[in-house]
Amino acid sequence: MNVIFLGAPGAGKGTQAEIVSEKFNIPTISTGNIIRAALKDGTPMGLKAKSYIDAGKLVPDDVVIGIIRDRLAADDCKNGFILDGFPRTIPQAEALDAMGVGIDRVIDIEVSDEAIAKRMSGRRVCKACGSSYHLEYKKPKTAGVCDACGGELVQRKDDAPETVLERLKVYHAETEPLKAFYEKKGKLFIVEGQEDVADTTALTLKAMED
Ligand code: AP5
Repeated sequence: MNVIFLGAPGAGKGTQAEIVSEKFNIPTISTGNIIRAALKDGTPMGLKAKSYIDAGKLVPDDVVIGIIRDRLAADDCKNGFILDGFPRTIPQAEALDAMGVGIDRVIDIEVSDEAIAKRMSGRRVCKACGSSYHLEYKKPKTAGVCDACGGELVQRKDDAPETVLERLKVYHAETEPLKAFYEKKGKLFIVEGQEDVADTTALTLKAMED
């Protein structure tokens, strides 16, 4: 199954994508994670993307479309995949269509801007492996330490409150129109994000089976 997870920054699409990926045994492709890894490695693409990410802006379409084209050609995508954070603009969705990639369903996680602002301030990520935690909703076993690898937990630079506001602005202008794009194709399934991750997961799994 080929699935897209849509939603505002911090709506919980990455969290849900990981859970569905494990349950359905298909890879998750997160453009955000790929770009952050390139940034950490100091590749030319990472360096080009840095100023956009830090400012809460979208990385140019041609860069992310190139990333996705290469990644979808890999063997592990043959039995399906989850796209987390792509497409994020209408031209990106059109590029996916032009590649001949069929999408079975688009799961849109809906959370209010106010709840997102609160969530983002509590998110912490592992500096070493990128695992994501929350000071209130998903605490690590030991404060400040990654359960998975023992790495240090830090706040993402683009989770600073003023950058989150910019990311939400960009989401409403550039990404939200994708809901109508996929609704017209009969692919859109809406999940109302809940306070509790497990409650959201129950609704996501239902949307995967409807
Ligand atoms: P990206 O990494 O994709 O960031 P994002 O979309 O802003 O997504 P987030 O990871 O912030 O949110 P999420 O919805 O995955 O939430 P999560 O599950 O982590 O992209 C970063 C940047 O890269 C972009 O700003 C852009 O510059 C660039 N980029 C990436 N893709 C691009 C593209 N296609 N085109 C152009 N540029 C692109 O959850 C958030 C927090 O909430 C966590 O702490 C989590 O534990 C907690 N949480 C999750 N679910 C719940 C719940 N139900 N209740 C309570 N807490 C919860």
